[in-house]
Amino acid sequence: MPFAHRHLLGLEGIGREDLLSLLDTAASFKEISQRDIKKVPTLRGKTVVSLFYEPSTRTRASFEIAAKRMSADFVSLSSSTSSVTKGETLLDTARNLAAMAPDAIVLRHSAPGAPQFLAARLGCPIINAGDGAHEHPTQALLDLLTIREHKGRLHGLTVAIVGDILHSRVARSNVFALRTLGAKVRLIGPPTFLPPELRAWGETTHDLHEGVRDADVVMMLRIQLERQGKNFFPSVDEYSHYFCLTERAVGLANPDVIILHPGPMNRGVEIASDVADGPYSVIMDQVTNGIAVRMAVLYLLANRPRTKADLDVEAPTAGPLAARSLATGPLATGPASPPAPPARPARLRRRAG
Ligand code: CP
Repeated sequence: MPFAHRHLLGLEGIGREDLLSLLDTAASFKEISQRDIKKVPTLRGKTVVSLFYEPSTRTRASFEIAAKRMSADFVSLSSSTSSVTKGETLLDTARNLAAMAPDAIVLRHSAPGAPQFLAARLGCPIINAGDGAHEHPTQALLDLLTIREHKGRLHGLTVAIVGDILHSRVARSNVFALRTLGAKVRLIGPPTFLPPELRAWGETTHDLHEGVRDADVVMMLRIQLERQGKNFFPSVDEYSHYFCLTERAVGLANPDVIILHPGPMNRGVEIASDVADGPYSVIMDQVTNGIAVRMAVLYLLANRPRTKADLDVEAPTAGPLAARSLATGPLATGPASPPAPPARPARLRRRAG
């Protein structure tokens, strides 16, 4: 079944068939990266532009590698080296790039809703490479692909997600997709990162050992150290004392547990080095799968036949990116807004972290 969307803005609302189509397409592209000559003509003549307003290693590099392995032309721009430094707005920047007829724009931006903002105004496919605390859909897709490869399925697995759930775009995208595909989600973190409204996403606990017990998958999140001292956690030492994934904690999970981390890691803060580099870690598999997932996303979106609607550049009166514009986007309810709660959600016992 073909992918039914013009853009990839998030995984909220993406149905089971489309998720499986993305994963199956990605799986079929993996073999290309194992060849001596890692190039196919699939996107020859297509142009992909990446526009990053935030730093990135994995996402940016893997989009570029993915595009080039499919023979697309790839243009990479960052806010620090573009005319953004001269005060150009996101919309003006993107409209100028769109006037050069790219076949997809990959956007990372600190403002939640920025990709939706552009998708409503430009004629070419927009791919969200991470927007604030909202979503990071390709990260979650590569996580799903990695889990499915190791476990053979997603349905029925218990996935424990540990850390700054509230501010994590990785957690949000994963929660949406994992639930759609029938996995059971457990959320673990201190109360400041796991407010009561997030209980609708899955089981919650503030106790790491309780949360990882019998889990099939443990997904650690990066602690944003810049939040230290902002009433989210008192100190890095205290956070790591309660929530660092150690070998002892891993021993409570299922014997065939796998450990994921989206990177960049804070070794010794949210994950111990011997766990990050240990036998249960699939962190490098995640990075490898990032190429295949981004190849699949580019293939399904940039290669799609263009309709008249795609070619119409909309909203000639649209102004600069403004709070009001973003407020009309999907994050008007803020990053803490959970999906509809499941019927009678089971809940782990809460304990102070
Ligand atoms: N996981 C992830 O998004 O990493 P980067 O910030 O390096 O792209």
